[in-house]
Amino acid sequence: MSVEEKVDIVVGEEAWYTSGVERLGIARLHLTDGPNGLRCENPDADASDRHNKHGSHKATCFPSLCLLAATFDKTIARKMGEQLGEEASHYGVDILLGPGVNHKRTPIGGRNFEYFSEDPILTSDLASAYINGVQSKGVGCSLKHYFGNNTEYNRFNVDVVIDERTLREIYLRSFQRIIKKSAPATVMAAYNRYHGEYCAHNKEALKDLLRGELEFKGVVISDWGAVHNRVEALKGGCDLEMTFDYRDSKNQLINAVKLGVIPESLLDESCERLLALRENYKAQGGDADFEKGYSVALETAIGGMVLLKNEGALPLTSLDFCVIGEAAKYPRYQGEGSSRVNAWRTSNPLTELERIFGTVPYARGYVYNEPLSEELIKEAKEVAQKSNKAIIFIANDDYAEEESKDRKTLALLDKHLRLIDEVSSVCDNVVVVLQTGGVTEMPYADKVKGIVQQYFAGEACGEAIAKLLSGTRNFSGRLPETYPIRYEDNPTYHYYAKEWDRLVYEEGIFTGYRYYDRNNIPVRYPFGWGLSYTSFAYSDMECVYKNGELVCKVKVTNTGRRVGEEILMLYVSKPQRKGCEKPVKELVAFEKQYLGEGETKSVTFAISKEDLSYWNDGTHCFELEKGVYRLTFYGRENKCEIETNISIE
Ligand code: GLC
Repeated sequence: MSVEEKVDIVVGEEAWYTSGVERLGIARLHLTDGPNGLRCENPDADASDRHNKHGSHKATCFPSLCLLAATFDKTIARKMGEQLGEEASHYGVDILLGPGVNHKRTPIGGRNFEYFSEDPILTSDLASAYINGVQSKGVGCSLKHYFGNNTEYNRFNVDVVIDERTLREIYLRSFQRIIKKSAPATVMAAYNRYHGEYCAHNKEALKDLLRGELEFKGVVISDWGAVHNRVEALKGGCDLEMTFDYRDSKNQLINAVKLGVIPESLLDESCERLLALRENYKAQGGDADFEKGYSVALETAIGGMVLLKNEGALPLTSLDFCVIGEAAKYPRYQGEGSSRVNAWRTSNPLTELERIFGTVPYARGYVYNEPLSEELIKEAKEVAQKSNKAIIFIANDDYAEEESKDRKTLALLDKHLRLIDEVSSVCDNVVVVLQTGGVTEMPYADKVKGIVQQYFAGEACGEAIAKLLSGTRNFSGRLPETYPIRYEDNPTYHYYAKEWDRLVYEEGIFTGYRYYDRNNIPVRYPFGWGLSYTSFAYSDMECVYKNGELVCKVKVTNTGRRVGEEILMLYVSKPQRKGCEKPVKELVAFEKQYLGEGETKSVTFAISKEDLSYWNDGTHCFELEKGVYRLTFYGRENKCEIETNISIE
């Protein structure tokens, strides 16, 4: 290949395509979003919203990854990945730009709906299953956004400051485990800076850490427009600049090579990786079964919605209830931005509940994007007064949760809070169903009998919630992030946006539940919280550590009168040592198990030495502390169900 041909393939040609090398029969690469469904541009469609130049082809709109995380289900994550891979291949997409795995450091993160969790083990085990699913269909993934893109605040320039131990134990941990478990085809370099340098130009991030410590062998692509100087980015380790060449990058590279500013061998390294990518990941075309896609989206949604509170209100057993809220008819089932999907078809909660119970009394309650209406609240009270129960569906206005900006508050809108208050004043059995991408404050929690986190549940959201509210299916989801009582209780509240250009992660490793546990701060609902219509008991826990692996066995029984799925969550409490504080507990493994009425299953976990280690910033490596480790299974109400100690010398 000539220098010009080599340069051609390391810079994008169009928004979603690289160049090929026609002379050598090397086809161009087609890359497109997104994590919860194909956003594949349809040049014949009008612009659909403010994020997309053109509309997209129809595709399955899966639940956002915030819900996938709440399933704690590696099997469904893989299934979702497989379906995504088939649909990508159908549209000729070689690389799917997902999953986003950034750590949920603050509950106001604008793209939290697109990410998994506040825990790196949960994020990385599910993301690995998802990637293995997609890539099993010959389509590559792009693990994003590497790294430190935990908020949208000044995202194109902010310099994130993360200490060494926090970086390894939290912010790189997901990337490291995913690369080891699923070998993603590409990693997407984030917009922001680390140690003052843009991630897409950052030798420390891309070579020392990603290629060195994390042993990544695939291709590094930039986020769209994240390269500010193509020569610097190539030197830093960025193989492919996306999107198209609007910074005259190709000429800069050609001149730099011809003038000897950079050795051609550096260009060759990236070209070889890109040619290998081109060889290994090829869309096969073929048909995609979008009805199967709907079914996978439905199963995922059912497995990830979380029952937060239930004092006898659920399941609904007869038509003694009414439904209130615009979101019951027009559900909010995805977030805004590059992840937005033109859904194959959608179901809404009201229609699906009526399919089960017949005509349901309904009141609109509020209107999206309009102020509170006294008239609509009065009408909702009148409907609720005549019912034994009121199911209120709540969703924010348009663009409340959107790429490119963080949320300003965790509070619901006044029109929602007033509606809940007024309806609760005339009805004793109110259930609030939240269609949000993440945490909200719940000042009404003590006034209502039920709360469900429905999340952005994808195109099948209506059918899923109807099956769960009616008891046709049982809730099994558990929270992948903590719900604080107030935003101010979160450790990032005091550090957020103190400076425009720098974001210092001062809370260190004590993020999410690690922070609330350590400081004994009460929360509304803790990480891992999630009720079921049945109950489970744990017994016979045995642990043994040998040959660098901890094997833990336990039995779990469905002690209730309904089938259900239990998510076993195994935590470890590492030995404390002066000068090197460990979190009170850390999730180390999880498994979802279906259990019939009265059924008992034995589950075995194998925990690697790495997952028991901590980062010693004196020796600059992961180490296994000698001492006593406490292992506990926490149940659905965040209570210790069973525990044992193990000594590692
Ligand atoms: C964006 C996003 C990234 C997306 C890319 C292409 O700005 O940060 O997640 O994949 O552009 O749309």
